[in-house]
Amino acid sequence: MFPSDAAAPRSRWRRVAVTGATGFVGGHLIDRLREGGVEVLCVCRPTSNRERLERRGFACRVVPPEDDEAWKEMVREVDVIFHLAAATSARTAQDYYRANTELTRRIARAALACPSPPLFVYCSSIAAAGPVPRGQLRTPGTPVAPVSHYGRSKRGGELVLAEVAGDVPVTVVRPGIVFGPGNRELYPVFASLARTRIHIVPGFRPPPLSLIHIDDLVELLWRVAERGARLPPSPSPAASNGPVPRVGGHVPANDQGVYLAGAPEQLDYRQLGSAVAQALGLRYFLTLHVPQPLPFVVAAAVEAWSRWSSQDAPFQIDKIREAAAPSWACHDPRLAKDLHFTFGRSLQEGLEETARWYREHQWL
Ligand SMILES: NC(=O)c1ccc[n+]([C@@H]2O[C@H](COP(=O)([O-])OP(=O)(O)OC[C@H]3O[C@@H](n4cnc5c(N)ncnc54)[C@H](OP(=O)(O)O)[C@@H]3O)[C@@H](O)[C@H]2O)c1
Repeated sequence: MFPSDAAAPRSRWRRVAVTGATGFVGGHLIDRLREGGVEVLCVCRPTSNRERLERRGFACRVVPPEDDEAWKEMVREVDVIFHLAAATSARTAQDYYRANTELTRRIARAALACPSPPLFVYCSSIAAAGPVPRGQLRTPGTPVAPVSHYGRSKRGGELVLAEVAGDVPVTVVRPGIVFGPGNRELYPVFASLARTRIHIVPGFRPPPLSLIHIDDLVELLWRVAERGARLPPSPSPAASNGPVPRVGGHVPANDQGVYLAGAPEQLDYRQLGSAVAQALGLRYFLTLHVPQPLPFVVAAAVEAWSRWSSQDAPFQIDKIREAAAPSWACHDPRLAKDLHFTFGRSLQEGLEETARWYREHQWL
């Protein structure tokens, strides 16, 4: 329970759709929505494993990603759509754009075709905005320059939504790295330290990172839906068929309706290792810095193997591009000022809770 929960009014929404409900963020968001008294519709792909959701009594709707009519039908039934489904890692650049830009375009068009469009809350990423020079913080209005295909494809999602804004109420949230119980992305840091007491850091000057605990992120998603600003109306025709610009676009310079979601403390990847080691109760561990070209070489070799074997690459050049950026630090003063949002715990407390969860669930 958050200290800020008491201030949040019980929702006036009747029914809310969540794409990506089988994923890490979506799984936590649907719990928060249900706690808030909202009827949740989990929107899944035909291939999604819905068993866990259905076992827990969540209603699921299967919508094939390319079925425009099914999207139109779904959006008509809800007051809010939280669009979280995304490819966070993919084999090819096209897979990122298909999952993150084109799917968002389809849902945006479906919402646009609706007589009374639902509120559209888009879970983007700090990667869509891109890094900032070392020593600086990204704040609302800092120019956008994504460095990875993942980031550009999420930015593409923001831009197609900016095109329908005005006709469709849209708010965008750009989280930093999300962690917490059940998270698989930061799990390797915990696992490596717990098993080998070694923390491997790409480069000698790793970028400061913005992190956010999952409970903070779902609370923030709730709050932006309840009382966040919306993107201003687009000056260009809605949901055009044209190509999505890779950078730039007309998301307003002051980032109205776009929120940055990162905890007030920033850790670089080396400091993150120390914080995780502390969370695991390790007194001694080794930090190994790997000179910067090496991770690129290894990722290229892993990707070549992945293409040859048709297996997913666990280590990708796209992610190394992000890891080699100068800084991912961000701060959005509007979270406190406009949304009355406070972070529920320190990063260290969140990492300790996460370590406990991994242990209790025998992941470590
Ligand atoms: N986790 C982070 O650190 C982080 C940071 C910043 C932003 N975000 C954003 O937060 C959202 C949720 O991330 P997450 O960590 O929960 O991801 P996740 O655990 O990988 O879950 C991804 C979800 O998207 C669905 N999905 C995957 N590929 C898809 C595709 N090609 N078409 C349609 N649906 C697809 C998956 O459904 P299936 O079950 O069918 O595979 C799953 O429900 C994403 O929009 C992500 O960009 C995450």
